[in-house]
Amino acid sequence: MVTVLSPRPDLWTLDPDVLHLNHGSFGAVPRRTQELLAMLRAETEANPMRWFRSVAERVTASRLELAAFLQTDPEGFALVPNASAGVSASLAAIPIPAGSRIVITNHAYGAVRYAAERFASANQAEVVVVDVPLEADDDSVVATVEAALDDRTAAFIVDQISSATAMVFPIRRLADLCRSHGIPSIVDGAHAPALLDAPAEEGADFWTGNFHKWPSAPRGTAGLVVAEKWRAATLPLIVSWSEYDERLPERFDQQGTADYAAWIAAPESLRVLEELNWPRRRTELSGLIDEGAKLVAKALGTSVAEVARPAATMRLVELPFPGERSPDAGEAFKEKVSLELKAEITLTGFDDRVFIRLSAHAYNSLQDYQRLAEWLPALL
Ligand SMILES: Cc1ncc(COP(=O)(O)O)c(C=O)c1O
Repeated sequence: MVTVLSPRPDLWTLDPDVLHLNHGSFGAVPRRTQELLAMLRAETEANPMRWFRSVAERVTASRLELAAFLQTDPEGFALVPNASAGVSASLAAIPIPAGSRIVITNHAYGAVRYAAERFASANQAEVVVVDVPLEADDDSVVATVEAALDDRTAAFIVDQISSATAMVFPIRRLADLCRSHGIPSIVDGAHAPALLDAPAEEGADFWTGNFHKWPSAPRGTAGLVVAEKWRAATLPLIVSWSEYDERLPERFDQQGTADYAAWIAAPESLRVLEELNWPRRRTELSGLIDEGAKLVAKALGTSVAEVARPAATMRLVELPFPGERSPDAGEAFKEKVSLELKAEITLTGFDDRVFIRLSAHAYNSLQDYQRLAEWLPALL
């Protein structure tokens, strides 16, 4: 029996009458960061001219703290609003010849697949999807991907932690494999910051990850880490005043008139994690989510999915999904759970299977999963 000694819902402003079991989708911003954000916005509105004169310096300070959190070289680290923007900027930097292929896996996030499709079709290239089973261990993931790479492959995009399957991929080995074939690799690390240590340091050509998921930063805060050889060619998708800046991070700092408060406030959330003694807390949360997911699966008469390498704080519980299986039916079910049980969950689909993907963050306790286990069967 694992016990998380001190769940800290007090650090967040989450509605206590709701079971918050899906941190993984949109995160949740701690109270302290929200307060700082509100102060920064009040400062903006007190004197917009003075605020915008101060933005560059403050964004730089914040960017350096975020790079240090990732343990990555600050000269190769740029701020982007989200992982979607990071993947798009990476694809825009890579030559995609006509007739070439962008390889992704069947775990890829939908919007990332769409990005691959857009860049492929704009260049008369194609997207190839490699099937990686949920239970595949690292050796077989690497072997499966290797079999799909060829001399027409322009880029390989892979999740570091997948969304639909909450699976950790062997990024270092995959990045090495791509390098040995001369193929640029893009790592979608949307879920990786705070779930993996030094996630951007696994040798990919491009890595992107969200601070607004597990580190609980304000939404719109993400990073793009670019290997040295690609830094000159990597440009933000919005053309702005720093277009001709030779330094990668600075080129991404200015994206026209925008609300930069989220980027500036983001390090406050890192301080909250530090005070929570995050590495130890994350280990406790792994125990909690293991136990919580088992309770929910038992109540549903199903099982927790056997993912070869599950993410630290997410688990998939098989859902005996009633009726029609479609995105609309899934949305309707989530809405029903939200309204009738006051519980927030997400559903994911993989290989004709439907899962509840459960999360655990520092505000969760075993009671949350016990309640879901008690109430959910009545809705099925
Ligand atoms: C694996 C993965 N990639 C990309 C994204 C997109 O992130 P964002 O919406 O912040 O761009 C997500 C979001 O959940 C994700 O889980």
